[in-house]
Amino acid sequence: MNEEILIETIKRLMVSPKGLLAIDESLRTCNSRFEKLGVQTTEEKRREYRELLITAPDIEKYISGYILFDETIRQSTADGKSFISVLQSKGIEVGIKVDGGLSDFPEHTGEKITEGLEGLEDRLKEHKKLGATFAKWRAVYTIGEKTPSLDCMKENAKLFAKYAELCQKNNLVPIVEPEVLIEGDHTMEECYQAIARNLEVVFNELKLADIFFPGMILKTSMVLPGNDAKVAVYNQEIAQSTIKCLKEKVPNEIGGIVFLSGGQKDEEATKNLNEMKNLGPLPWPLTFSYGRAIQNEAMEAWAKNPEDIAEAQRLLLLSAENNSLASVGKYKSS
Ligand code: 13P
Repeated sequence: MNEEILIETIKRLMVSPKGLLAIDESLRTCNSRFEKLGVQTTEEKRREYRELLITAPDIEKYISGYILFDETIRQSTADGKSFISVLQSKGIEVGIKVDGGLSDFPEHTGEKITEGLEGLEDRLKEHKKLGATFAKWRAVYTIGEKTPSLDCMKENAKLFAKYAELCQKNNLVPIVEPEVLIEGDHTMEECYQAIARNLEVVFNELKLADIFFPGMILKTSMVLPGNDAKVAVYNQEIAQSTIKCLKEKVPNEIGGIVFLSGGQKDEEATKNLNEMKNLGPLPWPLTFSYGRAIQNEAMEAWAKNPEDIAEAQRLLLLSAENNSLASVGKYKSS
């Protein structure tokens, strides 16, 4: 591990006023979003869509790194430029999702464990050779009467630690993404408790594995009520709870924290980040790493009118710009 390489990569990723754009939806997730919009679920359609995301003019003003899926990192534009070379020419860092998706956690109904350790180091080396400088591994947790269970949290945390260790050994910045899902009718307090307990378990395992904290990034959910809870919560309240939870549970030395949008309404994700940035100085760099909250409008426009790439890119840029403003607490709702 070369600590300096990891720290330098994180500096470029966490540079203000930028954030990350996640376009690493698995085949299944990407296809299911395409299906809902009546788009064919072919490799060429996914390539075409991601080309517009990657070639969007001026996106580098707001986005420091793209997280790609394995299929995407090998694809090229219609006129033959590799996606990686397009991103690199804009000074954007290339990231790669390296987990292998979710499988059922035996004897724990409804809980999931992340797959993908097998062959991981070879894949990391290959991605690094292709041009990746950072990686992402996601685990998910559902809030329910008995979940997330300690067993599930521990098992996933151990996997995070092994993944992070291999990334750092190969000088790739690991993004550790424990996503507490929004689905359910849980209260905000229950979400707070789930995230807090889980972060404790995650950082405990990372510490045991001797992970170099300044050379890693945490990607987390915000503290939110469940999407079926039917309660309205002020953005300020979400911001305060989220920051309180992170300050209590995340070591000050880590390289940075980024948020997933997790199925919140697009603008809510923007407003919540904005509020957090107005809570005063924080111990770590903090920004966004949204997928849906940045892509939604662009994807819908493209699905309706695939010829009008410029319009989809305009919407993408606008969304990226709004989140960039939020990342410095300067977003004003229209
Ligand atoms: P969302 O912002 O759509 O939740 O996606 C971010 C992500 O990377 C999920 O793994």
